Amino acid sequence: MIHYTQDSIRDTLSVKPSKTQSVGFVPTMGALHRGHLSLVEKALSENTVVVVSIFVNPTQFDNAGDLNKYPRTLEDDATLLQTVSKKILIYAPSAEDLYGNKVISKKYRFGGLEHAMEGKYRNGHFDGVGTVLNLLFRAIKPNKAYFGEKDFQQLQIVKKLVSIEKLPVQIVGCPILRAPNGLAMSSRNQRLTKTQFEGAAEIYNILKQAKEDFKTLSIAKVKALAEARFSRHDFLALEYFEIANAADLKTAQRKRKGNNYRAFVAAYAGEIRLIDNVSLN
Ligand code: PAF
Repeated sequence: MIHYTQDSIRDTLSVKPSKTQSVGFVPTMGALHRGHLSLVEKALSENTVVVVSIFVNPTQFDNAGDLNKYPRTLEDDATLLQTVSKKILIYAPSAEDLYGNKVISKKYRFGGLEHAMEGKYRNGHFDGVGTVLNLLFRAIKPNKAYFGEKDFQQLQIVKKLVSIEKLPVQIVGCPILRAPNGLAMSSRNQRLTKTQFEGAAEIYNILKQAKEDFKTLSIAKVKALAEARFSRHDFLALEYFEIANAADLKTAQRKRKGNNYRAFVAAYAGEIRLIDNVSLN
């Protein structure tokens, strides 16, 4: 069953006393794929009830075209979730139900995590993500919430958000799921042509090569080689290739013992923006 309002989902959740219930929450923007289902399955294995929200959040888009073209497939999503488990509750609010009459972002400071990469290239993006998740967490009151590592920067920011907003929810990060060709699963993949889908596999190949190069080469060299590989690609247009400390997402200049590094990519296949990342050590 799809709940379209906070009142409706809250009524359902409050039937059982909160002490006997553990609520797992998977926030999504819909167009569900196997990556989402892996989060849902983990949530089902760790909680007595699971809520999946489906809401394309306008405040996290800085590009109206991207927002309008974001796939919206609520009926198919609901059918897919019911095949996984009848226990799943779906919350698919209107913007008004979630935000009230002002659909605007709160301004957040996430300790600098918000300035790099996605924050740099998508103006106001993390204020929008923080705002909608704060509203969703307050509406659902989950014990645990599940996020994929494809959006690794988002995952770090969500952990910061719950400490800023003092929300009693445990944030669980889950591994990236990939298509057989290596492309990270994303709702945006639905919009790729066959040729784009096949060619976009190179994103992960370049990341894997960077991981290999990282064993012996300097950070500057690894980055330069990866950028050169992107520049030779037929149609992928690189927005950024970044090597950063996993803990604070600051751009890494030099390798230091004991630090964990990750490589991050954003690239366009036509007008479709794809992101991915891997751990380097
Ligand atoms: O990762 C997403 O799909 C979105 O950013 C999220 C977390 C559902 C917030 O709108």
